[in-house]
Amino acid sequence: MGKLLLALLLLSGSLFIEKDNPAQSSDFFSKKHTILEFPEGFLKGVARSFYQDGGHHTWPSRDKKTESNWQWFENQTIQCNARGISLYSRSPIKNGQMINNASDGWNKAFDDIELLEQLGCNAQRFSVEWAEIEPEEGVFNAEALEFYKRYCKALHDKNIIPMITLHHFVHSLWFEQKGGFTQEENIVYFVQFAQRVFSELGSQVRLWCTINEPTVLGACGYILGLHPPAQVCKVYTAGLVLKNLLQAHVQVYHALKQMPHGQDAQIGLVHQMLIFEPYKHEMPFGFQVQNPVGALTANAFNFSFAHDTVKQFLETGIFNYKPLPLVAGIHHHMPKAPHSYDFIGLNFYSRVVIGMGPTHYPDQVMTDMDYAMRPAALYEAIKEIACLGVPIYITETGIADARDDRRERFIKSYMNAIYQAVAEGVDVKGIFYWSLIDNYEWNDGFDMKFGLFSVDPDTKERALRKGGSVYRDYVKIRGDWA
Ligand code: BGC
Repeated sequence: MGKLLLALLLLSGSLFIEKDNPAQSSDFFSKKHTILEFPEGFLKGVARSFYQDGGHHTWPSRDKKTESNWQWFENQTIQCNARGISLYSRSPIKNGQMINNASDGWNKAFDDIELLEQLGCNAQRFSVEWAEIEPEEGVFNAEALEFYKRYCKALHDKNIIPMITLHHFVHSLWFEQKGGFTQEENIVYFVQFAQRVFSELGSQVRLWCTINEPTVLGACGYILGLHPPAQVCKVYTAGLVLKNLLQAHVQVYHALKQMPHGQDAQIGLVHQMLIFEPYKHEMPFGFQVQNPVGALTANAFNFSFAHDTVKQFLETGIFNYKPLPLVAGIHHHMPKAPHSYDFIGLNFYSRVVIGMGPTHYPDQVMTDMDYAMRPAALYEAIKEIACLGVPIYITETGIADARDDRRERFIKSYMNAIYQAVAEGVDVKGIFYWSLIDNYEWNDGFDMKFGLFSVDPDTKERALRKGGSVYRDYVKIRGDWA
């Protein structure tokens, strides 16, 4: 036991460290840029996922409801047993909420383009839903493909550039039942789906994201049990899933590049740089001490969300996943990987502080999620990801703020951080704010209000939040955006 504790403490790194220099962090909050001039052609958009905005769609031509990993998941019951006695059971979604038609995102999709116009956006990132497009293996839903063609055309008609995400956490149940991304041999199904979508939309769309946040999918689905297939502590499987997702990205990249319009397309991966750090207590003489529980937990989360593994894979093609001393690692080499992305999509919300209790310092402002606003950490994330040497799109950033009393501060400080990186010459090509409207925040249900526009739960009417209007000001008024 003693040895284990010692090993864990060593794992957590040294406890006494020199104090951070917090200078930058406050700067982004206080800077007053009257005009942020972004480079010409810079994209100022919003991001959405059709599943989160609209649940599964009812297609008139189909007699069956779409079945997916998420639809399956929300109908599960999580049992908590001790010594064979059932203690309690609960829904995997907060307070048993069901997605239903969420914010009516499918039916209102075309009306929502007006909201983009109100904001003045020139781009939109959205998901094409695999479960809707290929609800049964090899059976493609022409109506769904047609929907997306019309949608892309409608965006173009308003001079809004579409950016497509091919996989945003949701996939068909038939694919999940084959083992989903736990099986390397299943990658081919995703490649075939991507090729089909590209053959339909490749002439209209230039910007393509293959997979949204592979590390989150692996960790939340197989270690934390927060996403389907709701597995817990399957650390090795999470690593396999991550490897297969990254391999799938590389294969899709090369498959699409060989198709008509492939060479014109810009194809990238979306990575959430999710980093955890232990709470640091102030000590005399300018030293800090890391909270030991925080240090252990932060390390465990950093292994699980495997940022370094993804970065190394993209840089070198070497996949090296070694989560814990007693768990077997996964090693793989894909020499093509470093040449398999035209841009990197960076999703960034926060850098999460973990202590015995507090997940932020007294001077930090919390969002409604378990993390604080950290604009300086966004700036650092951009600088770090720039090492990959390709253009960067901020494919998501945003705040859950039901009271709408922090959104303005968030937008201003995060825009300042992005602007600072751009001003220093980092090749950031655009921002996609998360999200246009309030939607279904996965296992948190509808409690998290990320929308620039609120959505009335009964009428589904959209209304621009006061805080949301600040983004419009940046997009429309500040700087002569392309
Ligand atoms: C995901 C979104 C999610 C957002 C806010 C990202 O991890 O891509 O689907 O809603 O974070 O939590």
